[in-house]
Amino acid sequence: MTIRRKARYVDLHLCNSCGDCANVCPVTAPDEYQMGLSSRKAVYIPFPQAVPCSYILDMDTCLGNNPIACGKCADVCEKQAIDFDDADELVTREVGAIIVAIGLDVYDPTEMDEYGYTRFDDVITSMEFERLICAGGPTMGHFVRPSDQQRPKRIGFIQCVGSRNPKIGRPYCSNICCMNTIKDTLLLADHYPDTENFVFYQDIRAFGKGFEDMFQRSKEAGTRYIRGLPGDIEEDPETGALIVTVENTTSGRLERHELDMVVLSVGVVPAKDRDKIAGLLTLSKTSDGFFMETHPKLKPVDAPTRGVYFAGFCESPKDIKDSVCQAGAASSRAGALLNAGEIKIEAITSVIDPEACSMCGLCASVCPYGAITWHKKEVATVIEAACAGCGACGATCTFGAITMRHFTDDQLLGQVRAILAEQPEEKVFVFACNWCSYAGGDMAGISRIRYPSTNRVVRTMCSARVSEEMVLEAFRCGAPVVLVSGCHYADCHYIDANRQTVKRVQKLWDKLEKAGVRPERLQLEWISAAEGQKFAKVMQQMEDKRKLVTPDEIAHAREALKPKKKKARPAKKEPAAVTEATA
Ligand code: FES
Repeated sequence: MTIRRKARYVDLHLCNSCGDCANVCPVTAPDEYQMGLSSRKAVYIPFPQAVPCSYILDMDTCLGNNPIACGKCADVCEKQAIDFDDADELVTREVGAIIVAIGLDVYDPTEMDEYGYTRFDDVITSMEFERLICAGGPTMGHFVRPSDQQRPKRIGFIQCVGSRNPKIGRPYCSNICCMNTIKDTLLLADHYPDTENFVFYQDIRAFGKGFEDMFQRSKEAGTRYIRGLPGDIEEDPETGALIVTVENTTSGRLERHELDMVVLSVGVVPAKDRDKIAGLLTLSKTSDGFFMETHPKLKPVDAPTRGVYFAGFCESPKDIKDSVCQAGAASSRAGALLNAGEIKIEAITSVIDPEACSMCGLCASVCPYGAITWHKKEVATVIEAACAGCGACGATCTFGAITMRHFTDDQLLGQVRAILAEQPEEKVFVFACNWCSYAGGDMAGISRIRYPSTNRVVRTMCSARVSEEMVLEAFRCGAPVVLVSGCHYADCHYIDANRQTVKRVQKLWDKLEKAGVRPERLQLEWISAAEGQKFAKVMQQMEDKRKLVTPDEIAHAREALKPKKKKARPAKKEPAAVTEATA
């Protein structure tokens, strides 16, 4: 692994944090840590508790080091810690596990113009509130309005700004904003008991240990919780007060509030640089943009790429307590891997026959684990330690170059033929994935739910393992109807392998239609392990469909789907012998 160590331009071993350099620096820039509410110098300590507590030089704001345009900091530094020649360094480390903890970004409410964040000085975000009320903040903890430096008396908090809002592409709950606002109202009640606080919300989610108690305390301290989100904010031209109109959905009344300050409780968004990390470590993302774990219940801190683990926000919004728990779990998982001395790999893994491989790279493109390496004009290879055995590659390869060890195509096709060898017209043929649909069938049995006995199930590790050939062979053997079933879309045991299932089934529907076979005879269903009811219902529906298939249709499918004879590949020309003359 190669790591870029950024240049600090200040030798941290020499710097004693005296601050002489910052005192003489002529440059001022917005202080990112204080949310731009105060300024810093080009040479600065990023935040009060920074470790190491030494200065760094921001070359983007410095007047220049090549040639040195100012150099006052270097002149004044007795320790001679300023090093204008410092440069980024590439460090190589051998690692056995990686924990991804890249954190989050905060939603920028600029696009929600109705709240006037860019128009009114006294509409601020919860992050800015945090700095204003903090003793280490730009006002030393004296809470004042940005517009006139006066203390606000009536403060409104608007919840879910940038969260639970599908219209702006952020349908998820940010998890932390409700409790953050409750904490802020308690701080205000403690520091300034004469302020009136209003919280406009759609739901208060106070579900952690002690959180409900905090919520009650906030209400007892006089905070008014109003169920309803304001449509917009206006400014009274005469008094300068912020006017918030809201429909109180509890009382059903329209309320108008004159406020001195409005705090937008902004949600969180996935970190900006996540795509770079995703590309480096072959990670998948959920539709929200957070990293996807291997399994939400069984492997919540494991990334699909073996040896990579998640901690904190990069996986989903969570509070400090949950982040700390996840970090502990991730480091334990990494420690267990590193200390094991040996690693267990799946028994069912892909094996590539280099002779049969056509070097197309399709297998590598469908592998959800990035376990297949392929370069143009080169035979694909499997990283066995990374392969989880879903079989998506094997089902995709039309050249027969991939075998799933211990779970071969021949074995599965053998099951198809054996099941349909006698009276196929009376059977509903089912492919069920091991982890969900098959378990759903079990659940139906355990729960004593009745369903037709005509179904015959072939189990595959994942629905993505079911190849075109397997489905077509079932029809050729006389199956009236075929069902491919797997885990729900975002719940595939092999990350998102069942996306390949969808693509393949869609292709098969086209193929069947072209061959004059009704596509409805092939069905695709997602059934989870807990859905015994659904399994039974689907089996009943399949049975109803089976009864509608005529013997003529079965006979037609047998003929129409017969494999076409492949043209023999022209024999490869032997390279001409190099004779002395040609040489
Ligand atoms: Fe069930 Fe992939 S494991 S569909």
